[in-house]
Amino acid sequence: MLSKLEAGYKFYHVLHPSPTVVLITFCPNGRFNAMPASWNMPVSEEPPTVAVAVDRESYTFQCLEHWREATINVPHSGQASLVYALGSVSGREVDKVAKFGLKLERSEYVEPPRWVDAIASLEGRLHSMMDVGEVRLYVFEVVATYVRKELYTRWGWDISKVSPLLHGAGRTFYEVGKMIRAQVSPS
Ligand SMILES: Cc1cc2nc3c(=O)[nH]c(=O)nc-3n(C[C@H](O)[C@H](O)[C@H](O)COP(=O)(O)O)c2cc1C
Repeated sequence: MLSKLEAGYKFYHVLHPSPTVVLITFCPNGRFNAMPASWNMPVSEEPPTVAVAVDRESYTFQCLEHWREATINVPHSGQASLVYALGSVSGREVDKVAKFGLKLERSEYVEPPRWVDAIASLEGRLHSMMDVGEVRLYVFEVVATYVRKELYTRWGWDISKVSPLLHGAGRTFYEVGKMIRAQVSPS
């Protein structure tokens, strides 16, 4: 039997742990900025798109309004503390790239660079957007995808070697657990 979630509990935690990305944007102050976002998802395959929910109070929102491209970088579970720290300060006050020593490399198609220490980086150009509550939902068309090849297989991450970072709540993060293979049902 299901019980109704009590008041004070967050509805969205039932959808976590959620894969987390780090958005790198090009900002009005002329710098690049990095913001973790666990509210992200692939949307369509043709064209290839990814949606990210960005709070309109964040500096990243201003950066995306300034320059409508981003790289969507996938961190691994060993980067939890760094990712949490990137989400605890704003690029409005702090040069996060310098403060946290983020290594960046030039992207192929977009102005914001890729994060070298991520396990994957998607180059995204704004496809469309929509305001929902306090958030602007940005849909990016993915124009290039880079991965750490030694960690990647035809079917995705080799979780015996690496886990993408999953966000639980607050400072709590998870790694991917064991692999489960669905049974083929007899016809
Ligand atoms: C793991 C994690 C996930 C987060 N996910 C989101 C998100 O999906 N959308 C969002 O707007 N903020 C999210 N945040 C909060 C922003 O990262 C945070 O407000 C950040 O300081 C904004 O930085 P900026 O002002 O430099 O853009 C998340 C924070 C953390 C630590």
